[in-house]
Amino acid sequence: MKCRKCQNKASVHMRQHKLALCKEHYLEWVPEQTERFIKKYQMFTREEKILVAVSGGKDSLSLWDILMQLGYQADGLYLGLGIDGGIGYSHESQRLSEKFANEHNLKLHVVDIEKEYGQSIPMLAESSHRGYGKPCAVCGLAKRHEMNRIARDLGYDVLATGHNLDDEAAVLFGNTLSWASEYLLRQGPVLPEADGLARKVKPLCRFYEREMTAYALLSGIEYIYEECPFAEGSQSIFYKETLNQLETTRPGAKLTFYLKFLEARKSGELFIEKNVKQGLLHACPKCGQPTSTPDLCSFCRMVEKANVKTE
Ligand code: AMP
Ligand code: FES
Ligand code: ZN
Ligand code: ZN
Repeated sequence: MKCRKCQNKASVHMRQHKLALCKEHYLEWVPEQTERFIKKYQMFTREEKILVAVSGGKDSLSLWDILMQLGYQADGLYLGLGIDGGIGYSHESQRLSEKFANEHNLKLHVVDIEKEYGQSIPMLAESSHRGYGKPCAVCGLAKRHEMNRIARDLGYDVLATGHNLDDEAAVLFGNTLSWASEYLLRQGPVLPEADGLARKVKPLCRFYEREMTAYALLSGIEYIYEECPFAEGSQSIFYKETLNQLETTRPGAKLTFYLKFLEARKSGELFIEKNVKQGLLHACPKCGQPTSTPDLCSFCRMVEKANVKTE
């Protein structure tokens, strides 16, 4: 497989885009695409101050790297969750976030939940009896709360997270399975600022997870490979696997699922009954059955075309 731009050997092949690129062109393509998404969804401008939530993982560190390359003013925020899981998870992810910041001369705010509130995430989960032994719900709640508080306290215009397409499609899938309309109406690349809430953006929401892995590896970003030790067996991982199976047989299915949702929501079609077409039906001149297509109905037209071809 050859790079579409230079004919050298391709490093990344994206079946869903019918696109293959060499390392050099891939590392150009990702920031270009990101810039397109930032503009398309009006996420922020170069005059605004951005706070990037960095977890030490490939997505958020790549996001920081991309924003820096594109010339945006982006500082980082690392939240110390106090999760060990036998692998020193929080410790290692903090180390890698700090390393990235130092190497690129970027400003990183570090806020430790235990220092701030007296208890780490696993301790809070334990003592609040929320989440049936798993701290993920407590952790999500604390992260959202702290990110918003800090972004506002420190005067940032916008908070950016590293959610990728796989993350977003999995959330969308979950919300669709239960028709959680309130969540569906709020999910998207941008959540505008509201009373007391900072604007939230997800500039990587149209990149597949494997595209972000490729970006991080090819740019030599050192990130934590391990997932959070509590994520194992979670619903979101199950949804991601399910969507990946779908993607294997239908490349692009994940992206279409997400983009068509955004379109439907934007045009106001979501949850609004569409009965306009009902009134526009007329009788097909050939068979007399109701149809909305001009002149012949779709069936009669198909039969007519088929006969022309065989004549
Ligand atoms: P997750 O919820 O772990 O899938 O992470 C989603 C996004 O939340 C990441 O891409 C980061 O932008 C942000 N995030 C997750 N964990 C942290 C953390 N400990 N500190 C700061 N940001 C985080
Ligand atoms: Fe929060 Fe896993 S429980 S990152
Ligand atoms: Zn190339
Ligand atoms: Zn007809």
